[in-house]
Amino acid sequence: MSIELNPGSEVKTNTITQPPIRKRVFSGIQPTGNTHLGNYLGAIRNWVAEQTHYDNIFCIVDLHAITLPIDPQELHNNTRQMAALLLACGLDTRYCNLFIQSHIHEHAEMSWILNCFTPMGWLNRMTQFKTKAGTDLDSVGTGLYCYPVLMACDILLYQTHYVPVGDDQRQHLELTRDLAQRFNTMYKKRVFTIPEGQIREVGARIMSLDDPTKKMSKSDPNPSSRITLLDSPKEIKQKIGRATTDSERLVTFDPQRAGITNLLGIYQLLTGQSQQEIEATFAGKGYGDFKAALTEQLVETLRPIQQRYNELMSDQTMLDGMLKQSAESVRPIAAKTLQTMKDVIGLG
Ligand code: AMP
Ligand code: TRP
Repeated sequence: MSIELNPGSEVKTNTITQPPIRKRVFSGIQPTGNTHLGNYLGAIRNWVAEQTHYDNIFCIVDLHAITLPIDPQELHNNTRQMAALLLACGLDTRYCNLFIQSHIHEHAEMSWILNCFTPMGWLNRMTQFKTKAGTDLDSVGTGLYCYPVLMACDILLYQTHYVPVGDDQRQHLELTRDLAQRFNTMYKKRVFTIPEGQIREVGARIMSLDDPTKKMSKSDPNPSSRITLLDSPKEIKQKIGRATTDSERLVTFDPQRAGITNLLGIYQLLTGQSQQEIEATFAGKGYGDFKAALTEQLVETLRPIQQRYNELMSDQTMLDGMLKQSAESVRPIAAKTLQTMKDVIGLG
């Protein structure tokens, strides 16, 4: 199967000589496997829905993935799988460049430089580091500590206007803005565009199926806590069937009942119906009826994605070609920003 690669459509603006006609969107996703419904509803689906409005750059952040131990073969495979999955979800190479972070060395290079300008106090406040590092701080890699600086570089290298992400990235985005503003002020030059986050109200935080007080996560040791985009209909049915609810029977949105409300939120996002419509549909019915309807919605949403994913994965040459071409296309933007940064600092 073949897809058209960057056929020079009128919305493409990736040359350094012309200013972007459309505002630039940049976002990243880790190739850590287990891509789940939270990633889809909180991020990927929004990227797809709005891709024609922007000049889009999406990045599979393999340098971020090595901040925690990961098997080499697994990392390599996950990276390709992630590319196929993003295309299967609807990212269209006519509107988007999709590349692998380590293919553009400017990310790692800028990261060293920006680390030197990042106060430790700012990184000490990052809550994601505290969650991921655990208690043994002496043995955790320093890359995990500097993770938000690399993320800031991803965004700033491309003079990004908007960063669509889930709610968990809010603090990293604030840090990115603070670092950019501080650097511009320090050197009295607009080296970086100050990016804005795009965090949707609904879907920004999909919760775990077994513990609805925690967010759905790739790294949760319990696979039943998440629906992955590659789950079979049987797995989906089992996981939704087991999803934590409560002893009440009312199918209503109620923040006090986090389990059912999370499931209803997922249903709302999949169907596009209002809360009132959904509550009316399930009035007088129980959790069993609702869970069956939710399962069906999930199976039907994921079926075409999985079908296209399998087609794309069967043509690795095409996938690798697309990733390479995208990197070549956006690299001049990153190189230009990094060079400006080095010039103002006096490097070289
Ligand atoms: P990651 O898998 O951590 O690289 O995240 C990729 C994207 O998915 C980011 O924009 C996250 O904010 C988003 N995301 C991850 N987990 C969730 C979740 N449980 N709910 C909503 N969005 C999420
Ligand atoms: N830290 C993000 C996450 O875990 C992934 C990421 C890396 C990212 N670089 C980025 C997201 C740049 C947006 C922009 O989800």
